[in-house]
Amino acid sequence: MTGDRPTGKLHLGHYVGSLRRRLDLQETHPMTVLVADLQALTTHAERPDEVRQAIRDVTLDYLAIGLDPERTTLALQSLLPELAELAAIFGLLVTVGHLYRNPTIKAERASLGIDEEQLTYGFLGYPVSQAADIVGLGGELVPVGADQVPHIEEARRIVRRFNALYGEVLTEPRALVGEVPRLSGIYGKEKMSKSLGNAIFLSDPPDVLRKKVRQIYTDPTRLKATDPGHLEGNVVFEYLDAFDPDKAGLDALKERYQAGGIGDVAVKDRLYEVLDGHLAPIRARRSQWEQDPEAVERVLQEGSERARAIAIRILTQVRAAMGLPLRL
Ligand code: TRP
Repeated sequence: MTGDRPTGKLHLGHYVGSLRRRLDLQETHPMTVLVADLQALTTHAERPDEVRQAIRDVTLDYLAIGLDPERTTLALQSLLPELAELAAIFGLLVTVGHLYRNPTIKAERASLGIDEEQLTYGFLGYPVSQAADIVGLGGELVPVGADQVPHIEEARRIVRRFNALYGEVLTEPRALVGEVPRLSGIYGKEKMSKSLGNAIFLSDPPDVLRKKVRQIYTDPTRLKATDPGHLEGNVVFEYLDAFDPDKAGLDALKERYQAGGIGDVAVKDRLYEVLDGHLAPIRARRSQWEQDPEAVERVLQEGSERARAIAIRILTQVRAAMGLPLRL
């Protein structure tokens, strides 16, 4: 089980952090992928129309990378009211102090400049709601980027606390972090992020990809192609490490670069070719689905119905374990 907030289109950071892993898991595991629109609204309450558009974009991104709705359930969080109920129950098991100390919440507050007076109950508590997403949809393995690990830890704590109080009913989920836990943005330093304007999107057409590759931060100490190049902090090589399937060829390229035997332009040409090798099939699948927006909507509708059946089953077990009445 995993998910994403629909706040915009998905990019290469998502791809190496978690999307690629999902494609592998899809071959071996039943999986639910949640478009977490309520979670997106914890930072976008004033812009619900933006979230609404992003629901379509993210669903299309899922289908474009090759998540197969016949095998993998794609669901929309706000269509699953049982998750909200479970979040209310889980809220009984977490202290506010602990949420304040969650490192991802802290980092997001800092980057969004959310002070005490602006901090909503919903934002501070979204890790609790995320725990409900995972547990309520029967998630055992959670493929996510490194920034999500504190939230999976929170879900594990909640499950342990629930089981200690009410009996061994729930399973502790486990995070599966991608081999590339963090990808820099094209200008280096900061991680790739839509809001920082440094992202390469899965939906970027070839000309946009070409332009962004040209802008990528390389080695500022290098003035001519014959100067020895440095790999540390060099985003072109970071991306090649993450995406180039030809590892031997990449090792040879690195040696030439360090020896001053190849220029930045040639290395970027190689990177373009590598990235486009990943993005071209994604683009092709996207344009297929784009022809039929109603089919995309149907995927999410039907997936949500399937997911809801799981959530109802788990919530019934939770209520029974707690001795909550199923009816009076
Ligand atoms: N917090 C995740 C993100 O920002 C989105 C998310 C919501 C999620 N519910 C989840 C991820 C459950 C994994 C499992 O992208």
